[in-house]
Parts: sequence; structure tokens; C-alpha cells
Amino acid sequence: MRFTVAIDGPAAAGKGTISRAVAARFGFAHLDTGALYRAVGVKGGDPVVAAQTLGPQDLAREDLRTGAAGQAASKVAAIPEVRAALVQFQREFARREGGAVLDGRDIGTVICPDAEVKLFVTASPEVRAHRRWLELGGDEREVLADVRERDARDMNRADAPLRPAEDALVLDTSEMGVDAAVQAACDLIAARRR
Ligand code: DC
Repeated sequence: MRFTVAIDGPAAAGKGTISRAVAARFGFAHLDTGALYRAVGVKGGDPVVAAQTLGPQDLAREDLRTGAAGQAASKVAAIPEVRAALVQFQREFARREGGAVLDGRDIGTVICPDAEVKLFVTASPEVRAHRRWLELGGDEREVLADVRERDARDMNRADAPLRPAEDALVLDTSEMGVDAAVQAACDLIAARRR
């Protein structure tokens, strides 16, 4: 059985939480594609070479969740050759036997345009910055500025910009909360699997 769930959206919208919950509920494998770009961003050297040679040890680094890694990821993610180097791995993961959930920015639009289920998870910048601040600490105003800067870069880049696929279900988690969003996602997946 092959079944792909594409979950896209801006930073700290709840994609990771929803993806992990959905994967656990249906027994699907989960790939956090942001971790690939974070690993390229923190690896150093030529980012294209870093993407082409990315290995399990790069993805096991403990500093991938920091704010600095997020910013570095957003910068290298605007380089078309970096994105190209990561496409095949993501597509193979998506079509693996047993079902897969991938979360990122371009899963429903570029990586898996034929995904069985597409979600676009969003929330206001203030709500997302507050969540990130609870997770990472620091100065909340700086976290908000960081979120806005990353949004602008991810949405305005020429290659695979962040935007909802036309057939994506949009879930605004500033309005509904993450638990309700998980339920909505599970209901949609269950309906499509019938
Ligand atoms: O989801 P995240 O915060 O871990 O992603 C980090 C950065 O990586 C994000 O700002 C943009 C980039 N990214 C991307 O361009 N495409 C993806 N599919 C996932 C992440």
C-alpha cells in the first residue's frame, strides 16, 4: 500500500506535531524535510556539495532545532541546486510501502503533486512566534522578527516558494488549536483511504 500525506506550511505552524500524530495514528513513516535543509545549513562549506553528500550522521546532529539552524536552512533552501539534490530522496520516501507523511514547504506543490492527501497548516505570525519562544526561549520580539524574516524568504524565493497547493486543505491552527487540526487531518486521511 502506497499512500502519501503532504503537510506544508510556514515555520512553527504545528506541521511537525500534526505530522507525527498522523503518522502514529495510521502507522505511516514520517519525514521532516525541514531537517534536510537544516542539516545542509549547519554543515558548512559549499551548500550544494553538502546537499549532494548529506548522510545519516548529518541528520543526527543535535543542533538542528536551533533558531540559527532554521535561518541557515531558509537561506540554503533558496538555492535551486540544493533543492534539486534533495528531490529524489524525498520522492522515494513518499512512495515507500506502508504509507508516508512528509512535512515541509513544497511537498504538495513540487515534491509530491500527486499526494493522496495535502494539508497546508498555518497560523498567524504572532501565534507561531509565541510557540517557538515557548520552545526555544530568548526574546519573544526577536523570535517574531525571525519568523517574519523566514516567512518572507520562504514565500518569495523563485524556486518552490511556500504556498498552498490548489487542492490542499488549509488548517489555521491559530483558530482551531493543534488537537483539532490533528483530528481534521485524520478524518480527511481516513475518508481518502476508503
Ligand atoms: O520546517 P523547518 O522550520 O524545519 O524548515 C527550515 C527551513 O527549511 C525553512 O525555513 C525553509 C526550508 N524548507 C524548505 O525550503 N522546503 C522544505 N520542504 C522544508 C524546509
